[in-house]
Amino acid sequence: MKSQRIAVAGGTGKLGRHIVEGLLEIKQQHGLTVIVLSRSPGPDISFAGCNAPVIAVNYENVDSIRNVLNDYQIDTIISTLVSLTPETFITSQENLLQAGLALPSFHRFAPSEFAVDSEQVSARVNLYRMKIPILRTLERVKRERPDSFEYTRFNCGIFANYLAFGNTKPEGHKAHGHLARFPFVFDLSKRTAEIPGDGEKQTVYTRVEDVGKFVAAATQLETWEEYNEMAGDVLTMNEVIRISEDVCGAKFNVKYYSREDILAKMSQLSENVMEHFYWEFYLAYVNGDCDIKRPINLNKMVDIKPVGVRQFIEQWWG
Ligand SMILES: NC(=O)c1ccc[n+]([C@@H]2O[C@H](COP(=O)([O-])OP(=O)(O)OC[C@H]3O[C@@H](n4cnc5c(N)ncnc54)[C@H](OP(=O)(O)O)[C@@H]3O)[C@@H](O)[C@H]2O)c1
Repeated sequence: MKSQRIAVAGGTGKLGRHIVEGLLEIKQQHGLTVIVLSRSPGPDISFAGCNAPVIAVNYENVDSIRNVLNDYQIDTIISTLVSLTPETFITSQENLLQAGLALPSFHRFAPSEFAVDSEQVSARVNLYRMKIPILRTLERVKRERPDSFEYTRFNCGIFANYLAFGNTKPEGHKAHGHLARFPFVFDLSKRTAEIPGDGEKQTVYTRVEDVGKFVAAATQLETWEEYNEMAGDVLTMNEVIRISEDVCGAKFNVKYYSREDILAKMSQLSENVMEHFYWEFYLAYVNGDCDIKRPINLNKMVDIKPVGVRQFIEQWWG
């Protein structure tokens, strides 16, 4: 059954806000109710002439969440939560789900995935290990309620917006959407790239604005498959370099990191969590944990025309 009354947990955040905006864009067309769950009250999120109220919940308290979900008769919860503390993250998502399951109106849940398959990389990427427990709970709930409950893992690869880091276009900040600005693998402003492996593995890139549109469109599907894989583009990192060189009109300085190079780098890291995340991702990448193992099914099921990598690079570097 299509989603009608949707709560986005963490919808004030970087990705979450794009999903809220994607939903607000189709709100009138489909008569949706969209609310944002947050740890603190805040002003409504407005987009495309529509609003979503931001409602405070205590993620440690199932009753606090359930009361809000009940007030709005929520049928679908999309989690875009993040925490660097595993216990907090795991408990928050678990409590969200339990609060939903207590209501007859509720029938859909999407955990905070939105990258590469967390299950594939969790052995090596520490921050993604905390994404696994909710998947086990969701599998169990689905077994218990096969006809009345659905969940899906939205995978979108790497946000293509990071390719715009350092662009000097007059409105260049718009390239990042609501995301933080940093270079990831490629730094087009310096004409450099640090590539895990030989750069020949295929990788999914999706602009965060398009992730918002894909997820919003997926709420209007009658059924949810366990995986909803979306892509703005599927390219090898070497192909991204060739496009970047072509558009920038300059040869890039490219460093390739073998598994041994990466392990050597990891042995010298500081305590910085994000630094570890970066190199753990590199290790997962060379080990094949990030390989694309399923078809890009969501692109075929919804009518969204995402921006491809060449188009994106031409827009911000051409
Ligand atoms: N594909 C990619 O390239 C890529 C890149 C980055 C992230 N991601 C994924 O996208 C998802 C969202 O990431 P994001 O960077 O958009 O998240 P974020 O903006 O850092 O955080 C999302 C929201 O989580 C809530 N939050 C923060 N700390 C919390 C805590 N301790 N307990 C409960 N809620 C907390 C906050 O909302 P309130 O303050 O309103 O409560 C925050 O706005 C994650 O699954 C992440 O792995 C993917």
